[in-house]
Amino acid sequence: MPHDDHLHDLSLDDLRKALSAEAWDERYRTSQRVWSGKPNARLVEQTADLTPGTALDVACGEGGDAIWLAQQGWRVTAVDVSEVALEKVATHAEEAGVDDRMRIGLYDALDDPRPVGRHTFDLVTVSFLHVPEPDFADIYRGIAKAVAAGGRLLVTGHHPDDVETGARSSHGPGLLFGPDRVLDALGVGEEDSPWAPEVVDTPSRVQDTPDGPLQVRDTVVRLRRKVA
Ligand SMILES: C[S@@+](CC[C@H](N)C(=O)[O-])C[C@H]1O[C@@H](n2cnc3c(N)ncnc32)[C@H](O)[C@@H]1O
Repeated sequence: MPHDDHLHDLSLDDLRKALSAEAWDERYRTSQRVWSGKPNARLVEQTADLTPGTALDVACGEGGDAIWLAQQGWRVTAVDVSEVALEKVATHAEEAGVDDRMRIGLYDALDDPRPVGRHTFDLVTVSFLHVPEPDFADIYRGIAKAVAAGGRLLVTGHHPDDVETGARSSHGPGLLFGPDRVLDALGVGEEDSPWAPEVVDTPSRVQDTPDGPLQVRDTVVRLRRKVA
């Protein structure tokens, strides 16, 4: 997240601004690579048993996940609020020789009801998109609409335990989430729910940081949209 330290005291409107395209563009301009370029471990784990088809990577950042998926044979659409990030995705995809199986597009979760119009995908993955709590349910419901019948939604996030354990020294209120927030937003478990939960987990992992290895916890939810 950008500028974590000052997120705590902000009003909801100011928090939304702090998480805006301008803020993310600025962050992505500050260094050639903000993230590692490697795919997220949870994505690699959670797609190991899936047959490549069409995939949507929401809040793709610099494209580590999207490019890795394309290398595994998926046809990938990668969207993010930051044009600067998307320019990097295009460059990295070309360098990796997978630009012919990738598309990129702008998407602002706080503004756009759905990520890519009415298109649906076999896999929709969202890694570490942290939005204000009052916006969470609407945003994740909009994203979930992009999952085709029989397809999967994979949501990975930072778990709120990370604040308690000190793994993340400070964070905006309600930005981190556990699996229940995703399940509640999508009505998983309710009668007539279109979702079959496949993975609901909070695994920990060791993350490399400039100060050394750090134990962190993830939220991982993988759902399958039932075929009607
Ligand atoms: C923590 S980064 C994660 C990037 C990537 N998914 C990864 O795991 O490397 C969060 C990403 O969410 C994007 N983002 C933040 N707010 C957004 C919004 N309102 N709509 C779409 N993307 C957003 C940011 O630009 C950033 O790339």
